[in-house]
Amino acid sequence: MSNEVLTTTTKDYEARYQNGYGLIYPESHIIRVHRHILQWELKQEPDAMFDFGCGSGQHAWYFAQQGYTPHGCDVSETAIQQAKSILPNHADNFFVNQAGDLSIWDRYEPNTFNLWMSNQVLYYLSDADIRAMVERVYSKVKPGGAFVVSMKSYHSWYAQYITASEGDFKKIEIKTARVQSTSYINFKRKDELAPLFAPFKPLHIGQYGEHIREDEGATTHWLFVGIKEA
Ligand SMILES: C[S@@+](CC[C@H](N)C(=O)[O-])C[C@H]1O[C@@H](n2cnc3c(N)ncnc32)[C@H](O)[C@@H]1O
Repeated sequence: MSNEVLTTTTKDYEARYQNGYGLIYPESHIIRVHRHILQWELKQEPDAMFDFGCGSGQHAWYFAQQGYTPHGCDVSETAIQQAKSILPNHADNFFVNQAGDLSIWDRYEPNTFNLWMSNQVLYYLSDADIRAMVERVYSKVKPGGAFVVSMKSYHSWYAQYITASEGDFKKIEIKTARVQSTSYINFKRKDELAPLFAPFKPLHIGQYGEHIREDEGATTHWLFVGIKEA
């Protein structure tokens, strides 16, 4: 099942990026995490950062403007071309990964990143795949470095469209006037996040989301901010 989800997600996103999907501005919750937590609370000095599933590169671009050296990967070739084009000075730091390929982490030395993030991506991975990646990534984050990940919450409007359970995933079949899609999502409850992302130590587990259309619902996501203890 997990492999099927990875393949379906990869094909789906490549098609979406070819049709103009992708952020053109960084999202406000990422800017707030930077300002309120990384800068104000942790007093983090900009250093190397990694964005897993970076899409068109807007968040990597935002952190580059703040003085970080951005790195990232995505399963979509089109998305990575866009990321390279907005970050020409860092283009070599962006690459297409095969879903589930853990060998990508071998290219980095231990203690490389002081920020590792993944915005709205890890819910396409099974718990076992997330744990295996966190284990690899933990050694690549510097002591005191931050781990920022969002996961879909059951409070998200997507949860209304669960039609089946398959392993860690819920099958979501949305058929509204605006959206017709089938996807597989690994939803999480708040209490499941800390054990999933251990050994990163939870610093804050917040939420973000909008509720623009009352006929759809809120886009609620968990926002887990952890640190690698120094
Ligand atoms: C909802 S989009 C978020 C994109 C970006 N992180 C952002 O915040 O705009 C999900 C992204 O995850 C990527 N993705 C999905 N599965 C992935 C995987 N196994 N490895 C890397 N990227 C993946 C998709 O291609 C897509 O760019």
